[in-house]
Amino acid sequence: MTGRSSGASWDDFFFDCRLITRLWKRPLKRVLSGSWEPFVLSRRAPDPASGLKRMGLYLHVPFCRDLCPFCPYNRREYDEGLYGLFEQGVHDEIRLAERSLNGSRPEVTSLYIGGGTPTVDPAGLVRMVRHLAEAFGPAKEVCVELHPSAMDDACLAALKDAGVTMLSVGVESLQDRLLGLIGRSHDAAAAQRAVARAAAAGFDSVNADLMFALPTQTPEELDSDIRRLLAMGVDQLSTYPMFGFPYTDLGRSLSLDAIRRPNGRLIREMLSIIARRAGEAGLKRCAVWSFLKPSAKKFSSITRHHYLGFGPSAASMTGRQFRVNTFDVQEYSRAAREGRPSALAMTLDERLEMVYWLYWRVYEMKLPLAGFSELFGEDLDSRFGGLLRALCAAGMLTREDGGYRVPESAAYWVHRVQNEYSLNYIDRLWGTCRQEAWPEKVRL
Ligand SMILES: C[S@@+](CC[C@H](N)C(=O)[O-])C[C@H]1O[C@@H](n2cnc3c(N)ncnc32)[C@H](O)[C@@H]1O
Ligand code: SF4
Repeated sequence: MTGRSSGASWDDFFFDCRLITRLWKRPLKRVLSGSWEPFVLSRRAPDPASGLKRMGLYLHVPFCRDLCPFCPYNRREYDEGLYGLFEQGVHDEIRLAERSLNGSRPEVTSLYIGGGTPTVDPAGLVRMVRHLAEAFGPAKEVCVELHPSAMDDACLAALKDAGVTMLSVGVESLQDRLLGLIGRSHDAAAAQRAVARAAAAGFDSVNADLMFALPTQTPEELDSDIRRLLAMGVDQLSTYPMFGFPYTDLGRSLSLDAIRRPNGRLIREMLSIIARRAGEAGLKRCAVWSFLKPSAKKFSSITRHHYLGFGPSAASMTGRQFRVNTFDVQEYSRAAREGRPSALAMTLDERLEMVYWLYWRVYEMKLPLAGFSELFGEDLDSRFGGLLRALCAAGMLTREDGGYRVPESAAYWVHRVQNEYSLNYIDRLWGTCRQEAWPEKVRL
């Protein structure tokens, strides 16, 4: 299917054989969460964020001008009327969350704006960003995802004026042949011009998203893309192997009934090209798939532990509760007006909240002791010492000053193990929420 390394490898067998995954997947979840029971999300009253010291904000804009067939995110074709309903819903939801804080004022560490294409209507986006800043205070970091075809100079200037500090451009590939094959609406030259414009606009940091292991892509094509992007001076490079999700247009056209992943050997070969070229350009790995210039600020959607989400399908995590809004734009707008846009929620006990923290710190390749004790008032080693020692012995972690680190050699394995959980959870949760605006229950 793809390039040279198309044969499956032994690790694919280890991760794809149901009999084998049964031996470790549930027991590992039991060790971490303390329970054999599945996670259950259902309708529950939303837990307010009052009482939190600090939090991030997330805004989801579920519209794009052109829909990519491989994309698993909650998005639909732009329509002016529907956008108006969506925007009204977001303003209602902001007022709702502000009221529920009951006068308390958690420090807002960051605002992350994702989609969809957040800049599909720049004026609407600026109004929502300003309202968020008025309601919760200005965020130090404001990050926006950009599509190469929706980021002209006027749009970039408006974002800067509204307080945006970091940008991420969805490049995906610099080969016209591959962009056409996966159904992107822009060519390589447009993506390069977009990155150059973002880099010249004077934001704190510019990230480029690149997908790899695309159908028929060769390692040489990927190598060329990486070198060209790094030569343009991007601050950060984030690379994702392309997954096929059953509920996307691509998944449906291929009749997928489970997530299709590129084979492990190919991912490892391509990941080593990415890591080598990033290293040669002086970038350091800052997450499993991301590489950052040491002097630059990191663009990341997942660094916040507690956050409030706004918009259809946006998730919130208050520590005591993880919840997700309805995915349907019209239902979202109506429910936000009536004060209840959240569709599904799950209560977390302290242990589960700790596991949530560990999961994302492992993804970021760093587990700081201070971060854990500040949040939980406990020592990471005394709570998870046995597990951490076992992971060190297996070469998945190393001890360093101030905490633990995932070594370079373990990055691929971290990715595979985390994928076993997260992709399946995403597939089940998002798959159901796309079909039903108000599902009764989802068991993960
Ligand atoms: C919301 S999009 C980025 C912003 C903008 N909508 C765009 O497409 O340029 C987020 C990123 O997720 C990645 N992505 C989307 N679908 C994917 C898939 N099926 N597998 C892996 N990565 C995917 C792409 O790199 C994409 O840039
Ligand atoms: S990849 Fe980006 S532009 Fe394409 S459909 Fe998804 S969110 Fe929209």
